[in-house]
Amino acid sequence: MHAHAPHPHVPQKFASISVVVPYRLTILVGRMELKFILFIAASILVAVSAEEKEKENEGARLLVQKHVHNKYLVENMDIIVKYTVYNTGNSAALEVEITDNSFDPDNFAHVSGELNARIDRVPPNTNVTHTVVVRPRKPGYFNFTSAEVLYRRKEDAPRLQVAASSEPGMAFFTSYKEYDKKFSSHVIDWAAFAVMTLPSLAIPFALWFSSKRKYEKLSKTSKKH
Ligand SMILES: *[C@@H]1O[C@H](CO)[C@@H](O)[C@H](O)[C@H]1NC(C)=O
Ligand SMILES: *[C@@H]1O[C@H](CO)[C@@H](O)[C@H](O)[C@H]1NC(C)=O
Repeated sequence: MHAHAPHPHVPQKFASISVVVPYRLTILVGRMELKFILFIAASILVAVSAEEKEKENEGARLLVQKHVHNKYLVENMDIIVKYTVYNTGNSAALEVEITDNSFDPDNFAHVSGELNARIDRVPPNTNVTHTVVVRPRKPGYFNFTSAEVLYRRKEDAPRLQVAASSEPGMAFFTSYKEYDKKFSSHVIDWAAFAVMTLPSLAIPFALWFSSKRKYEKLSKTSKKH
């Protein structure tokens, strides 16, 4: 009896399977459809974003470094500011304009180089540098801020691209008096050092020279004999 007991269940199992399979299939189809739709949507998104990226990557892209080239920053002495424009894009930047409004005339004397410079063209993978020289009128702290940069990313770009240079940041201008005191005292130090070391070099030299002459005389007289 036991061996036959499962028999009545068999058709039921089949029945349950035959019910389950179409149900799973619909889920499967549903999932496939969903996956397919998602796949299409994703590929459209990828295509769109790729196109956008391509558009975004098209044309010039400038990195502008503003750099102060002095070891000492001193009141009333030249400060050399260099702007390095580097084009990381894939076409030439046009009508590049660097404007630095950070050196106001009250605090700085303008010595050379345009504070509003124009570079007609910066080819891809190329550096172009521009130099400005200013002199701070007063000692004290100063925050070197960024310069503004405008350029056209390609010939037919409808608008100008706005960018900013890097910021050198906080600096301190030493007063001329302070700088002069330090510098001239060092000159005196060196002069004193030179004067003081002269005898210590001159005396051994004199000794060596006199002994050399004595030796030469000796060797000459010994040769005669
Ligand atoms: C451009 O200048 C930057 C920074 O000064 C430097 O790192 C880079 O190597 C330069 N590139 C070329 C192509 O000269
Ligand atoms: C310098 O100026 C920049 C830009 O205005 C600002 O972000 C920065 O905090 C300033 N630095 C100091 C130390 O004041």
